[in-house]
Amino acid sequence: MAKSSEISGFYKLTVTDRVKVVKDFAGLSVEEEALLQKPGALPFDVANRMVENVVGVMPVPMGVAMNFIINGNEVIVPMAIEEPSVIAAASNAAKMTRSKGGFKATTTAPIMIGQIQIVGVQDANRARFEILAQKAEVLQHANAQDPVLISLDGGAQDLEVRIIETFQGKMIIAELLVDCRDAMGANAVNTMTEAVAPLLEKISGGRVYLRIISNLAVKRLARAKATFPKETLGGEEVVDGIINAYAFAASDPYRCATHNKGIMNGVTAVVLATGNDTRAIEAGAHAYAARSGHYSPLTAWEKDANGDLVGTLEMPMAVGLVGGATASNPVAKLAVKILGIKTARELAEIIASVGLAQNLAALRALAAEGIQRGHMSLHARNVAISVGAKGDLIDKVSAQMVAEKKVRVDRAKELLEKFSKG
Ligand code: MEV
Repeated sequence: MAKSSEISGFYKLTVTDRVKVVKDFAGLSVEEEALLQKPGALPFDVANRMVENVVGVMPVPMGVAMNFIINGNEVIVPMAIEEPSVIAAASNAAKMTRSKGGFKATTTAPIMIGQIQIVGVQDANRARFEILAQKAEVLQHANAQDPVLISLDGGAQDLEVRIIETFQGKMIIAELLVDCRDAMGANAVNTMTEAVAPLLEKISGGRVYLRIISNLAVKRLARAKATFPKETLGGEEVVDGIINAYAFAASDPYRCATHNKGIMNGVTAVVLATGNDTRAIEAGAHAYAARSGHYSPLTAWEKDANGDLVGTLEMPMAVGLVGGATASNPVAKLAVKILGIKTARELAEIIASVGLAQNLAALRALAAEGIQRGHMSLHARNVAISVGAKGDLIDKVSAQMVAEKKVRVDRAKELLEKFSKG
């Protein structure tokens, strides 16, 4: 019989039974089945409650970036990422600004936007005014949904109403501005938008469709700034090279996507290590970068009067410490403990600093020596591992490939065979 991925009641099976189904479906070996079932730091009973249809956990290395001083505090930063060089690069960049006091970072209040889409209104302008006239009642209704947030001085603080033109005609977009305190806020905000929808329909005479948080968190920004002495960077030419790299990104979206990707190497790694929503942060980052209509760098680089390099970063940073996976994933909890923080704003400030460090490291490497030299030895190790090298053989095979400047799977296989015999 042909295979089918529609398996009735799959979600009701135990993790072990689900693995058996997947094993039969995909023709997994006994060893591969065992690999899926290997317990890690995230126990199955926790994983199984976090998402649906769990059959395993996907391990990603977690390293720590060293040397960070952020707002005067010494910080060790956990980073979860599969890409070699990123953690070393962040540590290196953080070291280079220590003599200048490290990173200064700030955040705005943790305000998220919840959107309510109203269609089919006869007179959009009039409806907008009527909604705004009843703002107090709408906010009161939103806030009745979340007494805990209110007790922490958070909650819906304002209501804005816009009229947009679409190919389906005019729409009214009502936006709740919600202070989410130490939560990322999606649950609180979505609950509020759903709760106020009937009231908005009544006031506007229209029909509500979407009620959902916006990931373009322009009211929840994190900023970081740092100065890197020109001598530490390798001289004036390197400083000029970095500024030229920034100018390239500012004018060219093809370069800018890669520039911002380098920033997100650092940002996403900390977001993931702390159990936050990487997709929300990525969506917010790129939408923010494009908000002027011209896709732009999330960082800016300039020279100060000394000729030293000054970098700044500004981006949305909707991360939380409560209510999400940060509170349920034991490794994420540990990451927060290593960071030594108590608030979501502190976390956002750290992440912004890491993003800035990551960008500096990439631009310096690109401007000074090219990225490949540093990358190669780590890449070579991964290639050696991918062909089955273990223990000392990983180092031997990768060192030989780097020496030969032939970091390739075919060469790794040959060398592994050779060194395994010898
Ligand atoms: C690689 O993951 C990131 C870089 O490409 C970033 C950049 O080019 O700025 C090195």
